[in-house]
Amino acid sequence: MKKVVKKTMLIILLSLGLLITLVFASLLLLSGVFEQQKYLDPWSKEYFSQFDDPRIQLAAHGLLAGNGHNMQPWIIKLDKENPMVFYLYSDSKRMTGEVDPFSRQMMVTQGAFLEYVKIAGDYLGYPAEVELFPQGVFDEMDLIKSMQSTPVAKITLSKTSPLETPLYDYLFMTDTNRSPYKNQQLTMDQVNELEAVNTNTDTVVKIYQDPTNIEKLKTYIMNSVIIEANTDRVMKETEIIFRSNEFKKNQYRYGFSVEGQGTTGLMGHIIQGLVTLFPSMNSGEAATNNFIKSSQISIDNTSAYAMIFTKDNSIISQVESGMLYSNLVLTAHKLGIVMQPMSQPLEEYPEMNIPYTSIHTDYAYNGSSIQMLLRLGLPEKEAPFSMRQDVMEIIE
Ligand SMILES: Cc1cc2nc3c(=O)[nH]c(=O)nc-3n(C[C@H](O)[C@H](O)[C@H](O)COP(=O)(O)O)c2cc1C
Repeated sequence: MKKVVKKTMLIILLSLGLLITLVFASLLLLSGVFEQQKYLDPWSKEYFSQFDDPRIQLAAHGLLAGNGHNMQPWIIKLDKENPMVFYLYSDSKRMTGEVDPFSRQMMVTQGAFLEYVKIAGDYLGYPAEVELFPQGVFDEMDLIKSMQSTPVAKITLSKTSPLETPLYDYLFMTDTNRSPYKNQQLTMDQVNELEAVNTNTDTVVKIYQDPTNIEKLKTYIMNSVIIEANTDRVMKETEIIFRSNEFKKNQYRYGFSVEGQGTTGLMGHIIQGLVTLFPSMNSGEAATNNFIKSSQISIDNTSAYAMIFTKDNSIISQVESGMLYSNLVLTAHKLGIVMQPMSQPLEEYPEMNIPYTSIHTDYAYNGSSIQMLLRLGLPEKEAPFSMRQDVMEIIE
C-alpha cells in the first residue's frame, strides 16, 4: 500500500515538474529566446564603420540619442551634389500626437540627434556645422506637411584630424535610467559641472536638490503621472508601440519594450512570454497601475532634479534644448550620474493643463519655457540598451 502511495506521489511530482518545465519553455519560446537581437546592433562601437559615407557614419551615431517615446523620428536626406552635406527631417509618421500634440518633444528629439552627430563628427575628423531650419521654420498651421517638406537642419561636414572628444565614449550608453537612484545628493562640483554645460544665454540648466523643491517636484510629477495614467487615449498610444517579444522588437526596432523598465535576462523573457500570451497584462487598468507604481518607486528614490529652460517655446528653442539635453546627459554619464526625463507635467494635451501651467508659474522665469524636467542621481543599477533601427532605415 505504502509503495503504491509513494509511486503515485512520484508520478504526481514528475508530472508537475514536467508541466512547469513545459510552461516555462513555452514562455521562453513565445518571448523569442533564440532570436538574435538585431535591434541592439547600432549600439556596437564598430557599427558605423561598415559604411563608407561619413554622413551615414554620423547618422549611425545620431540615432543612439535619447528620443521621445523611442520613436526615433528622424529622416536623413543625403545631398546628391555635395557628398559633405546632408539634411535632417522629422518623420511625421512617427509623431505621438496624443502625448505630444504640438510635437514639442519631437523637436527636442531632433536636437538630441544633432548633438550626437556633432560629437561623433569631431571624434571622427568630420566636424559638423549645423544650420537649423535653413529653409525657414515649420508652418504650425500645417505641421505634418511642413515636416515632410522642410528640413530641421542642414549639416555640412568638413575634414580635419580626429579630436579627442571626452564625451564620445558616452554616446554608446543608453540615456535613460528608470531604476531607483541612491539616496545621495550630488556634490557641488558635479552640480557646477552639469549647470556649466549650457553656454547659450537663451537657455538655462538648473539643478534642484533641496528638500522643498524635491517635495514640490515630486508632487508635480506624481499628480501628472496619475492624470496621464487615467487618460485612455494617451495610454493607448503608448500601449500600441510596446513590443512584447523579440520577434516584434526585431521587426519594429522602435517604441518601448521590457528593457525600458530595467528588466532583462530570464525575467525579461518570462514577462515577454506572459505579455505575448496575455496582452491585457500590459493594457487598460493593469497598464495604469503599473505606470503609477513604477513612477512612484522612481521618484521615491530620487534626490535631485534638473530642468532645461529656454527663453521662449519657439521651434528653434525646442531643437536647441534637445542639443543641450544630449550634452547634459553625456556629461552626467562622464560623472557617473544617470538621468530620466519626467515629461508628464510639461505635456500639452488638455488634461495636463493645470500641472503644466502651475509648474511654469512656479519655476519658469520671464515667460521662459521648461523644455525638460529630469530626475538624476547615482544609479542603483545599469540601464539596459533600448531598441534602435538600422541606420539605413532612416536614410531616404
Ligand atoms: C523629449 C523627451 C522626452 C522624454 N520623456 C520621457 C518621460 O517622460 N519618461 C521617461 O521615462 N522617458 C522619457 N524620455 C526618454 C525616452 O523614452 C528614451 O530616450 C527612449 O525610450 C530611448 O531610450 P534611451 O534614452 O535609453 O536610449 C524622453 C526623451 C526625450 C528626448
